[in-house]
Amino acid sequence: MMDTLEAIKTRRSVRKFSDRPVEPEKLRTVLDAARLAPSWANMQCWRFVVVEDAAMRQKISELSYVETFFGPRGYKTNPAQKALAEAPVVIVACAEPTLSGDLRGQQYYMADLGIATENLMLAAHAEGLGSVFVGVFDEEGMGELLDIPSGIRIVGLFPLGYPLEPGKGGAPRKPIEEIVFYGKWKG
Ligand SMILES: Cc1cc2nc3c(=O)[nH]c(=O)nc-3n(C[C@H](O)[C@H](O)[C@H](O)COP(=O)(O)O)c2cc1C
Repeated sequence: MMDTLEAIKTRRSVRKFSDRPVEPEKLRTVLDAARLAPSWANMQCWRFVVVEDAAMRQKISELSYVETFFGPRGYKTNPAQKALAEAPVVIVACAEPTLSGDLRGQQYYMADLGIATENLMLAAHAEGLGSVFVGVFDEEGMGELLDIPSGIRIVGLFPLGYPLEPGKGGAPRKPIEEIVFYGKWKG
């Protein structure tokens, strides 16, 4: 069993998947890891829609192309778009924002979902599976496709399956000196 720090250190976003099915027990383990996450007042505002049907995954993939997406890295298309059709499972992570905090203009349902979905990705990795957080998609179209009620936000899409190739390095992080200040903020 992979320990927590090892899982954190070796997880990489996976965007190429084999067609090997995900065992139901492994899918359950991954969903259970999300369920166990901490949340605002333990309100557990998350909901997950699991999509395995190939035609539905294809539609989800089509909805994850957003023409206006350039982002800070200048992507013209979503690099994970194909993964959503390729992976045997897509988990759609949703939130009921009224079940979480809204203080100082900060909506904590995003934190709740971030924590739960990192649990999900780490559990997937520990089980030999891969995933990636996909945040670029047409939320309205996705809501219609999946019958998601109004008021529920769709936060991310997570293709899940066996990686076709091992996760590559090459997603460097800023050095700790750049992001951590001791005592007070220093510019
Ligand atoms: C909130 C969020 C949204 C993301 N959206 C996308 C996306 O739409 N498409 C994609 O290919 N990757 C997406 N990613 C994955 C990041 O690009 C990736 O985590 C980052 O480059 C670091 O690489 P690593 O996960 O392999 O360590 C997203 C990640 C986060 C946390």
